Amino acid sequence: MHKIIFATHNAHKLLELKNILSGLYEVVSLDEMGIKEDIPETGETLFENASIKSRYVKEKLQMDCFADDTGLEVDALNGAPGVYSARYAGETATYEQNVEKLLLELGDTNHRSARFKTVISLLLEGKEYFFEGTVEGKIIFERRGSDGFGYDPVFMPDGYNETFSEMTMELKNSISHRGRAVQKLVAFLKEYHQEL
Ligand code: IMP
Repeated sequence: MHKIIFATHNAHKLLELKNILSGLYEVVSLDEMGIKEDIPETGETLFENASIKSRYVKEKLQMDCFADDTGLEVDALNGAPGVYSARYAGETATYEQNVEKLLLELGDTNHRSARFKTVISLLLEGKEYFFEGTVEGKIIFERRGSDGFGYDPVFMPDGYNETFSEMTMELKNSISHRGRAVQKLVAFLKEYHQEL
């Protein structure tokens, strides 16, 4: 079976992709390949960061790989925190602190529309391909739910009355930014191999 590297240290994301691509690819993580360091995300867009990560891995291992980068865009904050979502409240900020800052910045405004965006960069046989996934929604006034991570407790996708934190993982994955980008990646890889 072909091997493909997923440029992540996130065990949860890895398991998800291992399952989805089983039968087509053996998905291997950075840790499994002995890359322990965090790859610096120095880009100014999600595309740049995803690309920086996949190219870093390609250079080190000379193997096909993919990487993802995600940001939350809040309209009332002119698109912030965006590409800085992981470090919104500071370089070493926790999820909790980032959510706190977001709620504080929004205050009591009713203009709360927002979206999550994921970009995946795939390096396959010397070419780069990008896949994007988006989910529209709003930032609610107080945290709700206990599952998930990051901004999940305050993000309510359009068409639902639950936050990502209140949903089952299956439901979240079926409609989320990352889930949608991954669905496109998987469809592409399946077709790519059929055509070989
Ligand atoms: P990453 O690029 O996937 O590491 O995501 C950057 C940051 O966006 C994370 O540190 C989280 O704060 C946030 N984030 C990414 N995906 C999600 C999600 O599915 N739910 C909530 N927050 C997320």
